[in-house]
Amino acid sequence: MLKELAYINGDFMDLQKARIDALDRGFIFGDGLYEVVAVFEGKFYQMDEHLQRYQDGAREMLMENAPSPQELKEATRELKDKAELEKGIIYFQVTRGTAPRTHHFPSSSEPNVFMFVKEPPFPDAEKRKKGIKTIVVPDERWNRCHIKSINLLPNCFYKEKARQEGAFEAIQEHSVGITEGTSTNLFAVKDEVLLTAPSGNRILNGITRKTVLNLAEELGIQYEEKFMSKKELYCCDEVFLTSTINQVLPINQVDEITYPVDSFEITFKLQKALERHIDNNLKE
Ligand code: PDD
Repeated sequence: MLKELAYINGDFMDLQKARIDALDRGFIFGDGLYEVVAVFEGKFYQMDEHLQRYQDGAREMLMENAPSPQELKEATRELKDKAELEKGIIYFQVTRGTAPRTHHFPSSSEPNVFMFVKEPPFPDAEKRKKGIKTIVVPDERWNRCHIKSINLLPNCFYKEKARQEGAFEAIQEHSVGITEGTSTNLFAVKDEVLLTAPSGNRILNGITRKTVLNLAEELGIQYEEKFMSKKELYCCDEVFLTSTINQVLPINQVDEITYPVDSFEITFKLQKALERHIDNNLKE
């Protein structure tokens, strides 16, 4: 049984008892960054890649007081071990800290680091095989979607719309084309070519996305990074999403268009390849 443990600024406590200062800039302004890292067999999968993305985000957000990746790595390891987490996720977030409320950054503040463990929210075998339903929604986010900011209101708003329509995920459509899901990256296959939106400021460059592109290359699957139109997406042969939590998850429906998941080939090849990659890349 997992111990529902949290960590705040060096202290460990029951998640239910975890408290953050009301003037935390994350609470007031969403002025913070987060990562979700998977744990299997009591070991991390791609922790260094998540820490690198966090560090890049901290630099871009001028978060000069951000703890080093090494400090976070040690704290996440201690939390995982204390919680006896075998399979699940670690969520960590770092905010600019607690300070009197002013929009501009405080001249000095200590960052607030909050982490917790969660049992596997991973999709079940049925979803991994049969796929899930999605809807297309407008992409109303800011122009730095590559930063894993805790500002997720547009994402939450449209994930809720998906839920209300009986869908698992909402796929966002910007004026440039289809970008990504609210908490996932989107892939499609057309005439055996794998398609996904280019990395840059319009999507979060998922760790899983990058891994899937590398695996595609190893498997000799041709790929192209481009923004598809909604019409193009509707006409694709296979569609799937990726994320730390969902890995490779087939999509059987986008709006009213259905896809023959049973005959997806590239999606399932990549789903299996990612499983193998996970098995071979677990680290303490
Ligand atoms: N979501 N795009 C968005 C907008 C995301 O929030 C995420 C991750 C991804 C996939 O990234 P990765 O493969 O690195 O997990 C793409 C996390 C899991 C979440 O918010 O829970």
